[in-house]
Amino acid sequence: MKQYLKEDAWSIIEEGFDPANHEISESIFSIGNGYMGQRANFEERYGGPSLQGSYMAGVYYPDKTRVGWWKNGYPEYFAKVLNSTNWIGIDVWVDGAALDLAACEVKDFVRELNMKEGWLSRRFTAVLEGGKEVAVEAKRFVSVVRHEIGAIRYTVTPLNFSGELRFMPYLDGDVKNKDSNYEEKFWVEVEKKAAADLSYLTVKTKKLDFHVTSAMAFDVLKDGQTLELSPALSEREKYVAAEVAVQAGQGEAVTLYKYVANVTSRDHGLAALAPAGTKLLLAAKEAGFDVLLREQAEAWAEKWQTSDIIIEGDVSAQQAIRFNIFQLNQTYSGDDDRLNIGPKGFTGEKYGGSTYWDTEAYCVPFYLSTADSGIARNLLIYRYKHLEKAKENARKLGFSKGALYPMVTMNGEECHNEWEITFEEIHRNGAIAYAIFNYVNYTGDKSYLSQYGFEVLAEISRFWAERVNFSAAKGKYVILGVTGPNEYENNVNNNWYTNRIAAWTLEYTLEVLNDLKNNEPDHYEALAGKLNLQDEEAQKWQHIIDNMYYPYDEERDVFLQQDGFLDKEIVPVNELAPEHLPLNQNWSWDRILRSCYIKQADVLQGLYFLGDRYDLETKKRNFDFYEPITVHESSLSPCLHAIIACELGYQEKAYEMYLRTARLDLDNYNNDTEDGCHITSMAGTWMSIVQGFGGLRVQSGELVLRPFIPSHWKSFSFKVMFRGSRLQVNVTEDSIIVVNETDVPAAIRIYDQSFTVGAMGEVQAQRSAAPAALS
Ligand code: BGC
Repeated sequence: MKQYLKEDAWSIIEEGFDPANHEISESIFSIGNGYMGQRANFEERYGGPSLQGSYMAGVYYPDKTRVGWWKNGYPEYFAKVLNSTNWIGIDVWVDGAALDLAACEVKDFVRELNMKEGWLSRRFTAVLEGGKEVAVEAKRFVSVVRHEIGAIRYTVTPLNFSGELRFMPYLDGDVKNKDSNYEEKFWVEVEKKAAADLSYLTVKTKKLDFHVTSAMAFDVLKDGQTLELSPALSEREKYVAAEVAVQAGQGEAVTLYKYVANVTSRDHGLAALAPAGTKLLLAAKEAGFDVLLREQAEAWAEKWQTSDIIIEGDVSAQQAIRFNIFQLNQTYSGDDDRLNIGPKGFTGEKYGGSTYWDTEAYCVPFYLSTADSGIARNLLIYRYKHLEKAKENARKLGFSKGALYPMVTMNGEECHNEWEITFEEIHRNGAIAYAIFNYVNYTGDKSYLSQYGFEVLAEISRFWAERVNFSAAKGKYVILGVTGPNEYENNVNNNWYTNRIAAWTLEYTLEVLNDLKNNEPDHYEALAGKLNLQDEEAQKWQHIIDNMYYPYDEERDVFLQQDGFLDKEIVPVNELAPEHLPLNQNWSWDRILRSCYIKQADVLQGLYFLGDRYDLETKKRNFDFYEPITVHESSLSPCLHAIIACELGYQEKAYEMYLRTARLDLDNYNNDTEDGCHITSMAGTWMSIVQGFGGLRVQSGELVLRPFIPSHWKSFSFKVMFRGSRLQVNVTEDSIIVVNETDVPAAIRIYDQSFTVGAMGEVQAQRSAAPAALS
């Protein structure tokens, strides 16, 4: 835990430069536009510890797997998001001395991430050799309007002397990944050109042949006048640069504008890469920094229009939720169905930038509510496109039918290799099915099912039908040898959540099947033919649903996380001495596995997903049993607990859990923010406000709200898109006002009262007292 950032409603602000915080800030102040992303590395060289990170979405590397004991079924590679060409670099010399914040005195340092308009800035005074002081101001952004464009404005002013300023903007493809398994560099040069007006560099990955061209052009201004300069050009392997020298008087500001286009072979033919980059670059330069910045601010204003949350009376909470929403919108823009959301987005290398179940379980609700439904649909289509690979994956593991989606993937293939997770954490298949239900339930867009969804559901169901086995001893179907969401238990039998989500998937698949049969018989016939679906299969699915085994403890009347869970010694977390926590840094794996401690929501994950099927008493009994032994050592954990605590009227607990998720990165709560921000859990933070405090659900085509307001807040409001309408929900101490900002009327329910919010209309309801905690 580290709190060094200034509270502000719209910006993240760091005052004063402490190198010890630099890598944390590099993560937090990252910028991105769904197409590329950039850690907050300095433009000028920096001799201190730093994690360089320039990422291009979808450009990855299949790094050769490194494991101790090889298991059949492991993938040959682990995919990695690539640190690619450093396009922000500008070396600076002041009267011959290199500007490097690790090697000079730094005064008045302020770094700001402006979330309202989508830019990063930095200003400071550097005291160089001989006491020469320069003021530096840098601002940069990656355009959310022109996805391939990044722009930097970099100004240096000599404060107490007149002298020579030298600038060298460059493109450097000679970069590496910190997590490279064999210290290998992943890029080779294809071509380059350094020229006074425009330079470019094309590099390609050693495997898979991803090509990236970065093109740069720059202007230098003094007194508002563009200078005519003849840059000294330099080239070396995977590197181009252009150096200019400018005489500056005391107090005279010299500004360099650097424009860059980064284009990849994912979007352009190889021969067209350099021309495409050049064209985009010249158009951006022609528009100029101020115009690009204005476009950026306008585009962000539109994003905030559909996604902002306003909290009155708590700046820290306000800043935190905006930070979470901002980072989610920086990571995924939804216009490319080949892309997805890595747990660290564009803010670091950890988790390889790959796709996890986090997307379906946590991120889909955010994009469903805050953007056009096509965006969440694209996340679903991503998995549809990977269906063949998921079938291959199941075959590889010995299944005759069905699809097992990978735990971790870039292109649909499994690229993770820890047997207890890769082979056993199969509940992920359920989340993928659940996201289809969630999408259809939220949007009402049933066409998705006949077009794409049913095929995925049927293949996942086939997997479950083969993965269960009938236990003669129990007279029930069981699922053996799994890891549930709680990764602090491995290779268990009958993880309640896995059994439940498996049976639910079969149930939903049958529901969709019957619906298609009755209402879209032609589509059904075509799909049944394509899938070679037999009646006996559906009968088997029903038999499994009716006879699934669920571990349960009669005495406590709770679902058991897995067979034998109660053999463990149950000691609440708050009875552990604080030095034991976090367990994953202090205990051996063996000790963790034998303990009762739960990494993240497991039974409760099921009670959250299938919330409509369980009454409050059941939720309460299970929450009361499991929450005290949960250590929340996955960032995905506190948000679900916050949501269920809200339902149960556990206000303090809900707020405690909310705080733990909301400022996780800003306050470096888990002491790991330097690796990157926890992007997927940020969607969980959004969920804990909208579904937790707002109580939002969609039931029978109605948007249901059951808000309560944390005692620390005066009011809060959030926006949701719902079936063509955009609603702003304002919650105060005593009222709930829902304003429809569109012409499309919306059916909503507030507590138990139904309303239609007409075109541009508004409805108001009394706020009920917060639900009392059940006794
Ligand atoms: C969690 C998983 C999650 C992964 C990526 C792990 O720590 O236990 O549920 O998918 O992180 O966020």
